[in-house]
Amino acid sequence: MANLIVVGAQWGDEGKGKIIDLLTDHFDIVARYQGGHNAGHTVLLHGRRYVLHLIPSGILHPNKLCVIGNGVVVDLSALKQEIEDLQAAGIRCKGRLFVSDRAHVILEYHRTLERTDEERRARRIGTTHRGIGPAYEDKMGRRGIRICDVLNRDVLQEMLRENLREKDRLLPREPGLPRFEAIMEQAAALAEELRGYFVDTADYLNRAIDQGKAVLFEGAQGTLLDVDHGTYPFVTASNATAGGACTGTGVGPTRIDSVIGVVKAYTTRVGEGPFPTELTTDIGQEIRRRGQEYGASTGRPRRCGWFDAVLVAYARLINNLDTLVLTKLDVLDELQEIKVCTGYRYRGELLHTFPPEIRVLEQCQAEYQTVPGWNQKTAGIQDFAELPVLARDYLKRVSDLVKAEISIVSTGPDRTETIIASPESRLLSWIALR
Ligand code: GDP
Ligand code: IMO
Ligand code: MG
Repeated sequence: MANLIVVGAQWGDEGKGKIIDLLTDHFDIVARYQGGHNAGHTVLLHGRRYVLHLIPSGILHPNKLCVIGNGVVVDLSALKQEIEDLQAAGIRCKGRLFVSDRAHVILEYHRTLERTDEERRARRIGTTHRGIGPAYEDKMGRRGIRICDVLNRDVLQEMLRENLREKDRLLPREPGLPRFEAIMEQAAALAEELRGYFVDTADYLNRAIDQGKAVLFEGAQGTLLDVDHGTYPFVTASNATAGGACTGTGVGPTRIDSVIGVVKAYTTRVGEGPFPTELTTDIGQEIRRRGQEYGASTGRPRRCGWFDAVLVAYARLINNLDTLVLTKLDVLDELQEIKVCTGYRYRGELLHTFPPEIRVLEQCQAEYQTVPGWNQKTAGIQDFAELPVLARDYLKRVSDLVKAEISIVSTGPDRTETIIASPESRLLSWIALR
């Protein structure tokens, strides 16, 4: 039985939602391990567009089970809303969704803290304003409130009092900070209502694996947004990389067989921070228009740029990616020429590792190889042999530069708009193991 991790290998929004949906057929359980409702994973199914924020994309397959692991930060009202939205679309969550009782909760004051934190910074991060960062801060500060704590009125009361005393110190004149009673009652009521979803998911997942069930771990965000390995401080507050799947679910590394990286045929980024291959020209706008590059959670326009092989090779290293899934090839269909970044030059010197300092990364000159565009429609193609030769050349170049095989290519948002690029790929053999 194969257990696989799917991670974003750029700055998020690589098309993980579509790929998870595609792979879910081969698994029994889909598990989220980090992040929160900052994620926006889009799945197009029978002509309808679903955007999942907190609940794994596998929920759209009626006979699959889904887990929200201990590493996720859960806004209970967002969870309730998402369950209700799915219910309204005819998708049942009861009995199929299991949320870790160890997951930390996001409360109203986390959003307030995040707003003031962003205002006070010399340079904003450009967060999603969902309270994600402050909730993880509390977790690491050992004052966070977990779902199991919310379920116990006495514990909740005590922890909330202590937290609010501290938040009052941090935000002495914050007018809108909701008071103790309101937070207490809302959290307790939501937890009570959702009680049936909360379990020890580490126990649940490990037992399932013992019984031969296969788990697909759904990463949110992307490698360069990882708090340890990303473009710190312009990152999210969790481990979006493969390692996060173990800490964020309680499934040990030796129980997981493979890691898949999802990349776009180009690069995008939402929010602030360095972006060596960013295009501020008409071409960038053209890619945004064709790729519909607007945030699935916040609607913000995504910054667009050329494919960056330095960055994806770094993601291959950090996640030990076995294979790549390349999405949105069709978005490049009308370009006359396409560039791929092959190296970073800093003060004239070619760098050999991905630089940790933001100032260095900001001053890096991207070196490019330029290739002719195929200028032909690839949208919807399902067969590798039908791709224009120049598109195949592009894929080969990307694969060679990153030193990773590309096993699946996506040519449109729909499940069917997919090419199995290398039938003998390790990814596909892992799945066939089942
Ligand atoms: P995620 O956060 O990684 O799941 O990605 P998002 O859902 O935020 O953004 C990816 C967007 O691209 C979604 O609107 C998808 O429907 C769309 N998409 C995925 N694959 C393809 C593709 O191959 N071609 C095109 N044109 N759109 C795609
Ligand atoms: P998916 O799972 C793209 C970005 C934000 C901001 C930074 C920190 O859909 O790929 P946060 O609210 O997490 O503290 O914001 O991270 N960000 C994402 N960018 N896709 C995402 O998720 C993101 N989730 C957070 O824009 O730059
Ligand atoms: Mg997204």
